Amino acid sequence: MRKGRRIGILSGGGDCPGINAVIRAVARKAMLEDDAEIIGIEDGYEGLVNNKYRKLELRDLSGILTLGGTILGTSKKANPYRYAVKQGDKLIFKDLSKRALDNFKRMRLDCLVAIGGDGTLGIAYKLFKDGIPIVGIPKTIDNDIMGTEITFGFDSAVWIATEGIDRLHTTAQSHHRVMIVEVMGHNAGWIALHSGIAGGGDIILIPEIPYSVDAIADKVRERHRHGKKFSIIVVAEGAKPKGGDVMIQRIVKESSDPIRLGGVGFVLGQQIEAVTGIETRTVVLGHLQRGGSPTPYDRVLATQLGTKAVDMIQDREFGWMVGVQRCSLVKVSLKEVSKGSRKVPLNHPLIESARSLDASFGDRNIRSS
Ligand code: F6P
Repeated sequence: MRKGRRIGILSGGGDCPGINAVIRAVARKAMLEDDAEIIGIEDGYEGLVNNKYRKLELRDLSGILTLGGTILGTSKKANPYRYAVKQGDKLIFKDLSKRALDNFKRMRLDCLVAIGGDGTLGIAYKLFKDGIPIVGIPKTIDNDIMGTEITFGFDSAVWIATEGIDRLHTTAQSHHRVMIVEVMGHNAGWIALHSGIAGGGDIILIPEIPYSVDAIADKVRERHRHGKKFSIIVVAEGAKPKGGDVMIQRIVKESSDPIRLGGVGFVLGQQIEAVTGIETRTVVLGHLQRGGSPTPYDRVLATQLGTKAVDMIQDREFGWMVGVQRCSLVKVSLKEVSKGSRKVPLNHPLIESARSLDASFGDRNIRSS
C-alpha cells in the first residue's frame, strides 16, 4: 500500500458494542503497517455532508477495545441522497450527495471505511458507484445483514438479553407468573431465537413465524397442568400475530428507515392474562441491548473485520463488505448487501432444536392430553 494514504472511517446507524474495536483495528493496522493517516468522520454520513472530522492519533485508540458505543458518534438520520432539512414546520428531503463527494475530496481522502448496518451499507454502495473507493464492515445487534452469517454486536446483545431472561426466570417462578421479555432485532428474530434458547424460554416469538394468542395460551396452560406454574415468553419486537401486523412504536420522519418497532410485549401481556387468568408482566429490554462493553467474541470478530478491511484497502479492493461465511472471512459485494435484510430461515436448525425441547413458537396448538 502507498505510504501515507489517508483513510476516512465512519460509523452509521444504531450503535452497538464493538464499533470502537473495529475503529481501533483499522486505524492501528493502517498506521503501523503503512504509516497511514486516519480521518475519523463524525456522526456517520452527517460528518461527510457537513465536513465534520478529526484526525485520529494512536493515543485516541488506547483503551477503546472494550468501550461500547462509538468514539466517532453516529446518526440514523443522515442520508446524503435523501437528507432531511427543516423548512419552517415542514421537513423536506434534499439530495446532498454532491456535497458529500466534494467533502470527501476536500478531506483529501484516498478511501473510506463505512461501519454500519443495511442502511449505512446501502448508502455506501451508492457512494461507491458515484466514485468513492469504499470498504464496508457489517455492524448491528440485529444480525440481519445480507451476505454475512454474523455481525459484531449481536453476541453482546444476546448476552444481555440472556442475562435479562435468567433474572426474570427466578421472579416468574416465585410469583407463578407469565413473564414476557421483548427484545430488539427489527424485522428479524435472531436475538429472540438465540437468547430464547440460551435463556430456556418456553415460548419464543419471532417475526418469521406469526403467532396465535390461543396457541401461546395453550402452551402456558399445558405447563400449568404439568405443575410448571410460570412461563417465560421471549418476543421479538417485530413479531406479529397470524394475519396481523407489527406494532409500530414511533415514526422517525428524518430517517431513511423511519419505522421503529415496539410494544408487542405489552399487548401480548394483556391478551395472555385475559385468556389464561394468570398474572402476567412485560419487560422491554430496549437499548440496554445496544449499550456497554462488547463480549470477548465481539471484540475478536470486530478486530478481524477491521484488519481484513485494511488488507482489502492494501489490495485496492473496493465496493466490497467484509463478511463471515462458514467461519471464514469473505468479500461480499456492496450491491449484494444492499438488496435487503437477512431473516431467520424457517428451516433453521435452531428452530428445530428448540421445538425438540418443547419450546413453542406460538404457531401450533398443543395436543389435548
Ligand atoms: O438496528 C438496531 C436497532 O436497535 C433495532 O433492533 C431497533 O429496532 C432499532 O435499532 C431502534 O432504533 P432507535 O435507536 O432509533 O430507537
